[in-house]
Amino acid sequence: MFKFISLILRLFLYTVQGFLGLLWGLIKRKDPPNFSCDIVLITGGAQGLGRELALLFSSAGATIVLWDINQEKLRETVSEITARGCEAFGYVVDVSKREEIEEGAERVREEVGNVSVLVNNAGVLPGKLVKEFKEGEFEKTITVNFLSHYWTIKSFLPWMIENDYGHIVEMASFGSFSGGPLVSDYNSSKAAVYNFSESLHYELQLTGKKGVKVTCVCPWEMDTGFIPGRVKDFFSGAGIKKLSVGYVAAETLAAVCDGKFMIMLPKRYVVSAVLAFLSPRKIKDTVVGTYGYLKEEERMENEEELTNVIHYKKS
Ligand SMILES: *[C@@H]1O[C@H](CO)[C@@H](O)[C@H](O)[C@H]1NC(C)=O
Ligand SMILES: *[C@@H]1O[C@H](CO)[C@@H](O)[C@H](O)[C@H]1NC(C)=O
Ligand SMILES: *[C@@H]1O[C@H](CO)[C@@H](O)[C@H](O)[C@H]1NC(C)=O
Repeated sequence: MFKFISLILRLFLYTVQGFLGLLWGLIKRKDPPNFSCDIVLITGGAQGLGRELALLFSSAGATIVLWDINQEKLRETVSEITARGCEAFGYVVDVSKREEIEEGAERVREEVGNVSVLVNNAGVLPGKLVKEFKEGEFEKTITVNFLSHYWTIKSFLPWMIENDYGHIVEMASFGSFSGGPLVSDYNSSKAAVYNFSESLHYELQLTGKKGVKVTCVCPWEMDTGFIPGRVKDFFSGAGIKKLSVGYVAAETLAAVCDGKFMIMLPKRYVVSAVLAFLSPRKIKDTVVGTYGYLKEEERMENEEELTNVIHYKKS
């Protein structure tokens, strides 16, 4: 009963919040974003959301530094930016290796300058069941999706604090708030990213560094082909579409300009409602356990183990 009331209350609050936000957006006028004094470093910046962010930040005047493991795509994206007369530098850096991050940071400082906007975007999602992970695979996801954020921040934050100027953008996920089959590694790494960002946000606030901000971005699934086919589109049947990377990139840039700590995309209504909807355990068990992720054929094969993983049938 309490859960139900809390759910209704939450839905109501989210709706009011969304409405006020909409009104405020109409009243407030904004200057176009200007990052002409900034060096923006984006991990996993050669393709997908990283590339889209690079294009947007460069249009707003920023000098772009891209880190990626894909040399080919890196070259393409860098030339795409420089062809428009903007500055861009690409480095092959594997963010799963701490030494590469530290060396890379040093090179960027020497060859480009001090990074004032760090976008921790690189991520992987293998789409495996817990029992299927081979030696080191689970750890790799946690390293790329989470630990690397800590390492890049250790490299670039000191300059920002010293100058009381800078911004750290953390790509988390809708999955930060929930787990499910096939995403044990991914969603827990993203939960860590969210909670880490929140800690950093408060630490900066408490140390009085008002010029250094953290923005944590929690998007719903994107149309990048990033999620392996095996991981069934969650709720796609319910008419919730995948987000375009263009939309997520634009909203990210806007959140950075506004100095917002957290955004959830798509904005407010749908996702918040789904989130509120998912929180009471019984409802969640039914929804994730019935509609989540595993395609029908695989579900049959894995019925036994899955029951242990998600307790989706309590009998
Ligand atoms: C980078 O920051 C350091 C320390 O704040 C400063 O001494 C140096 O001149 C800066 N480098 C550039 C290229 O601006
Ligand atoms: C886990 O993360 C994925 C990828 O972002 C997301 O689509 C999914 O909704 C998350 N799982 C749950 C149960 O929320
Ligand atoms: C972060 O950690 C706090 C404290 O353990 C917890 O209450 C909160 O739910 C966590 N946030 C997320 C998104 O899991």
